[in-house]
Amino acid sequence: MLTPAHIAASIASKTKTKKKHFVAQKVKLFRASDPLLSVLMWGVNHSINELSHVQIPIMLMPDDFKAYSKIKVDNHLFNKENMPSHFKFKEYCPLVFRNLRERFGIDDQDFLNSLTRSAPLNSEAQGRSGARFHTSYDKRYVIKTISSEDVAEMHNILKKYHQFIVECHGNTLLPQFLGMYRLTVDGDETYMIVTRNVFSHRLSVYKKYDLKGSTVAREASDKEKAKELPTYKDNDFINDGQKIYIDGENKKMFLEKLRKDVEFLAQLKLMDYSLLVGIHDVERAEQEEVESEDNEAEEEGESDGGGIGTPPDSPSNTLDSTKPLSPGEFDPAIDVYAIKSAPRKEVYFMAVIDILQHYDAKKKAAHAAKTVKHGAGAEISTVNPEQYSKRFYDFITTILS
Ligand SMILES: *[C@@H]1O[C@H](CO)[C@@H](O)[C@H](O)[C@H]1NC(C)=O
Repeated sequence: MLTPAHIAASIASKTKTKKKHFVAQKVKLFRASDPLLSVLMWGVNHSINELSHVQIPIMLMPDDFKAYSKIKVDNHLFNKENMPSHFKFKEYCPLVFRNLRERFGIDDQDFLNSLTRSAPLNSEAQGRSGARFHTSYDKRYVIKTISSEDVAEMHNILKKYHQFIVECHGNTLLPQFLGMYRLTVDGDETYMIVTRNVFSHRLSVYKKYDLKGSTVAREASDKEKAKELPTYKDNDFINDGQKIYIDGENKKMFLEKLRKDVEFLAQLKLMDYSLLVGIHDVERAEQEEVESEDNEAEEEGESDGGGIGTPPDSPSNTLDSTKPLSPGEFDPAIDVYAIKSAPRKEVYFMAVIDILQHYDAKKKAAHAAKTVKHGAGAEISTVNPEQYSKRFYDFITTILS
């Protein structure tokens, strides 16, 4: 089944053979404003359904790290307003990513629901500029558009990354890579990778930093600052007099994880990654909630605050209806990067992002640029991955109070 397949144009006619008076129980269509997102939803649905018929192997084989599944779809009439009539969907290393999802405690059906119940949302909230971001409609996952070089680098590191995740039992600040795809629409190829959202699916972040441990050109531009949620940088953090207030135990656990993570990245000769920091302010969020409730008027009063009345077929963790959380509370199984502040009424979300920059690729690019500018033999003055990881780690130790 994980081989090229073809879908015929029979879907439309099949639908027609149904009895006329039969009112279908709301045929679910993948409807997104962006055809690419419709294709992503279609592809994830296809992939997870196919995988559910594939036995879970006792262990992954070397070939699984090179494998892919591909499907080409040619629909002539079906669902034309919502989906392109012709597209291709390729999933990289399906068994590896399924295994990773499992290790990160993500159920495949829940993953499928998150990505397909409703279209992913546009997001500016994370990462560096250039790449396009979406979050799943329920904000649990981030979908990032990446380059073919990133896809190649993922293939380079995937085996070691997987090994690392096995050894640390998924307990890491590194990105949780959950699926990687290539979508082809109108001959254009788009690569996407899905990771767990660093931020919460329900606690809002009012301030966000991208920290590298370098002070050279590390402040937000005026253009960035004009955004609703700007990404501030190292110098902004220092100038704001910002600190991350967490207790000794959390600090120890956090730094221990971080140390192992950056050692691993240095081994792989990866660098230029950042620590993404999001701050949730409990009181501020409560205030904002009161304000938005005032605006909405008192329409439906109390509503059902508890866990009763959940339809039996709705997956348990898609709606947080089972246990209402009080302000500033989070489910550590979902918001895995969250750390509660002490003594402040804040929650922090901190994780390492943008890890796919390889030293050799960077050196080559820098060398080419400098050769153009200064002629061959010009000196390359970038730090190496080992130095980068040390400087990064040392800086992060200073931001914790
Ligand atoms: C999702 O996949 C299943 C299994 O392949 C298929 O029956 C269903 O029609 C798909 N859903 C949509 C909306 O295409």
